[in-house]
Amino acid sequence: MAKDKSIFTCTECGGTSARWMGKCPSCNAWNTLLEGSSEPAAGKNRFGSVHASLAPTSEVLPLAQIEAADFERHPTGIDELDRVLGGGMVEGGVVLIGGDPGIGKSTLLLQAVDALQRSGMNTLYVTGEESGAQVAMRSRRLGLPDSQVPVLPEIQLEKILHTLQSRQPGIAIIDSIQTVYSDQLTSAPGSVAQVRECAAHLTRTAKSTGTTIVLVGHVTKEGALAGPRVLEHMVDTVLYFEGDTHSNFRLIRAIKNRFGAVNEIGVFAMTEKGLKGVSNPSAIFLSQHAEPVPGSCVMVTLEGTRPLLVEIQALVDSGGPSPRRLSVGLDRDRLAMLLAVLHRHAGVACMDQDVFVNAVGGVRISEPAADLAVMLAITSSLRGKALPKGFIAFGEVGLAGEVRPAPRGQDRLKEAAKLGFKVAVVPKANAPKKNDKAFEGLTIYPVERIEEAMQVVRGLD
Ligand code: TYD
Ligand code: MG
Repeated sequence: MAKDKSIFTCTECGGTSARWMGKCPSCNAWNTLLEGSSEPAAGKNRFGSVHASLAPTSEVLPLAQIEAADFERHPTGIDELDRVLGGGMVEGGVVLIGGDPGIGKSTLLLQAVDALQRSGMNTLYVTGEESGAQVAMRSRRLGLPDSQVPVLPEIQLEKILHTLQSRQPGIAIIDSIQTVYSDQLTSAPGSVAQVRECAAHLTRTAKSTGTTIVLVGHVTKEGALAGPRVLEHMVDTVLYFEGDTHSNFRLIRAIKNRFGAVNEIGVFAMTEKGLKGVSNPSAIFLSQHAEPVPGSCVMVTLEGTRPLLVEIQALVDSGGPSPRRLSVGLDRDRLAMLLAVLHRHAGVACMDQDVFVNAVGGVRISEPAADLAVMLAITSSLRGKALPKGFIAFGEVGLAGEVRPAPRGQDRLKEAAKLGFKVAVVPKANAPKKNDKAFEGLTIYPVERIEEAMQVVRGLD
């Protein structure tokens, strides 16, 4: 009797192993191997035909002879969403949208698909997580009781594909890809193999029919899309929802976009009637302190094309024998590095202290331009001395203690001046060369090294 060949698939990278191991042999992540065959059931070909490999190939043409057709785009009418998409949904494009539960994925997509339906497009909303009644309740809540969006409560891939073939919608939402399963596979619904295979089938359908497909994906506690990373490679656009579910503001970030710029963000506020775009978001992540407090430093981050002011908070407190370094919204390894630079080049020692840093409002800041603000917030907390009122800082700090310029520094300074900030400590190369009205009211201190920045701050006490 043939032995059942089981395969273990990594939830992180999608790599496989013939036996269970604690560590994935491909990406070295721990405890990510799950049992589940990535092979189709015996006798069936993944692509539907045993002779697929013998089929004639497409014609080979030099690039110059291939017509560079622009993509057909359909704006959803939700400006902030269109902005991250690069102008709207693209025909035959596949969008993956991830985010924590309850952050507003279903809400936004229902709003978008309803707007498209109203503009005359044929749409389809496939719901696997909620019943039709629940989706109907949401549409009432959104003030869309007359919505004509066709809803299909279904989780079986073959039935979904059949409906897509017969209805030929312009856009279809799959909420969510983790609930979809195929009969053709032996592994359990929700397993890596299922998610990957179902997404591949849906992607192929999108390409062959021209239907735009939006896949909703769950996010694990660590922030990665549950299921294999390969989902990200398969689709054209990957959008992530960010933000604190406790606050009303939500960010959508494009981390991959074959049809537009990445790192563009869309900003929304969750209201009683769904998500509303915030067209001028620069100040929404500032927390309000009546008077400056120690451990707080505002930075200007540049998300896509718009500068955004974000408060960085730090708390330095005496720790135990092995002090902790924790960061929320900022990179923890980078924090360790910055602490070492602070010690070595500015003589600020936090060796026996717990250090916590936080980017306020649930934003994630990945750009190194946050370095200077993080270091100034830490020093401010350690000294118990607040930075002056209306203070901002940004700039990357290198291992040698040098302060490097941030991209489009002047735009950042202009935004700070516009919002009434008074004092700025910035990399020398970012300081404006000539007097410009746009910086009026803002005293700018250009610095080249971290110790220089510390000196400036001490001089402002
Ligand atoms: P939802 O779109 O269901 O989140 P996801 O699909 O990402 O899991 O969002 C649900 C949350 O949004 C829920 O906590 C209620 C809130 N909400 C509003 O505040 N206003 C609204 O109009 C709607 C529809 C939801
Ligand atoms: Mg949902």
